[in-house]
Amino acid sequence: MTIPLPLKLAVAGLGTVGIGLLRLLEQQAALLEIRCSRRIEVTAVSARDRTRDRGVDLSGVAWFDSPETMAGNADADVIVELIGGENGVAKDVCEAAIASGRAVVTANKALVAHHGTELARAAEKAGVTLNYEAAVAGGIPIVKALREGLAGNRVSRIYGILNGTCNYILSAMRESGREFSELLDEAQALGYAEADPSFDVDGIDAAHKLAILTSLAMGSEVDFDGVHIEGIRHVSAQDIAFADELGFRIKLLGIARRTVDGIEQRVHPCMVRLNSPIAHVEGVYNAVVTDGEFVGTCVFEGKGAGAGPTASAVVADLVDIARGARLPAFALPTSELTPSCTMPMDEHYGAYYVRLMVVDRPGVIADVSAVLRDEQVSMESMLQRGRAPGEPVPVVITTHETREASMARALSRIGELDSIVEPPRMIRIESLER
Ligand SMILES: NC(=O)c1ccc[n+]([C@@H]2O[C@H](COP(=O)([O-])OP(=O)(O)OC[C@H]3O[C@@H](n4cnc5c(N)ncnc54)[C@H](OP(=O)(O)O)[C@@H]3O)[C@@H](O)[C@H]2O)c1
Repeated sequence: MTIPLPLKLAVAGLGTVGIGLLRLLEQQAALLEIRCSRRIEVTAVSARDRTRDRGVDLSGVAWFDSPETMAGNADADVIVELIGGENGVAKDVCEAAIASGRAVVTANKALVAHHGTELARAAEKAGVTLNYEAAVAGGIPIVKALREGLAGNRVSRIYGILNGTCNYILSAMRESGREFSELLDEAQALGYAEADPSFDVDGIDAAHKLAILTSLAMGSEVDFDGVHIEGIRHVSAQDIAFADELGFRIKLLGIARRTVDGIEQRVHPCMVRLNSPIAHVEGVYNAVVTDGEFVGTCVFEGKGAGAGPTASAVVADLVDIARGARLPAFALPTSELTPSCTMPMDEHYGAYYVRLMVVDRPGVIADVSAVLRDEQVSMESMLQRGRAPGEPVPVVITTHETREASMARALSRIGELDSIVEPPRMIRIESLER
């Protein structure tokens, strides 16, 4: 009887995810061997600091100071890239691995969002696998779902909560009534936010993931530059309180939709109705919702980051390779991916929540209403809380559906009125019905 050869891995990056992966592989070795009918073995690793005790046994594993050299030369079938960054070492590692005929598994959303199509083409040409389940929504197997489980459908819309840090901060703002900046400090102290939180709170991380999901769902080339991106810094405790009063939750969503004008890709805070499933996804959890013509709506929810969930996704990719499965990276042969055609944000059609700080004096609301009328924005409701003659008070307006371009013109004109004391705050109201 011949004993099947083990699947040999070289792991570049031994940080949160890299060490999480080594631990999972060790703890689940027997289960994985049965599931794959072969062992999965780590033969080589690379990180910056060779001397650091990482709490895992690396004896018998080759160490490479250069991950690029490892990618091209290690005794390995698969290079697992867990370093991070859209360019530089991570990209070089993946390219070297593909050039040497080794499969690549990566958790690097920045890399896949910026260079995914190009890497997929190179992998296809070299006849090797490129897998990246961990790059989108951590432990949620959404890449697999889109590539395999939903293959019989055209997905017309995909959206989700794609950044756990933002969701944690927005949930905590609602529960505590505190402001964004205080909650950001707390998220950093708890390890939910990086020292430089801009990728998370400015929406860039969610946009990386959305660009990847869009390609998988819509069959288009990955187009990060086509994503309209806004973060959560301007969401205030007042907005959260008004949202509650109006029957909404505020969530940072990534949304991609096919339209007659192209693919709409956007990441921004949204008001979502309390009866939508996504409204109740709280804390560091992620969720992704897909609409397919035959399957209907599917909702996926789980942990979007952390050593365990991310390692779980990396291992799913490795198990596929160990079993001999090689699927197109973006669910289609790269020659079939359509060049991305982005719908301009000005063409977005939706309803809006607007919060104004206005000086409490007669005639102000008439001025605001006149601008909205001129720009053909129809008001749905208006709320004013408190009375303080001569002082600024918040006024909240919700609108019926209108074009983004009209809304933008109206807000710019309203902001110029004498009685408006700070720039108007706008949050899009997202209709999540099919
Ligand atoms: N953390 C998560 O929850 C999570 C979730 C989903 C996806 N991801 C993605 O997974 C990847 C890794 O994230 P992480 O959180 O594990 O990062 P991390 O903790 O910062 O670890 C990065 C690792 O890369 C190594 N490294 C950095 N530059 C290197 C270089 N020039 N040569 C060799 N090694 C180098 C570091 O070495 P030293 O240890 O010696 O410094 C470290 O071991 C990223 O693409 C990230 O976006 C992370």
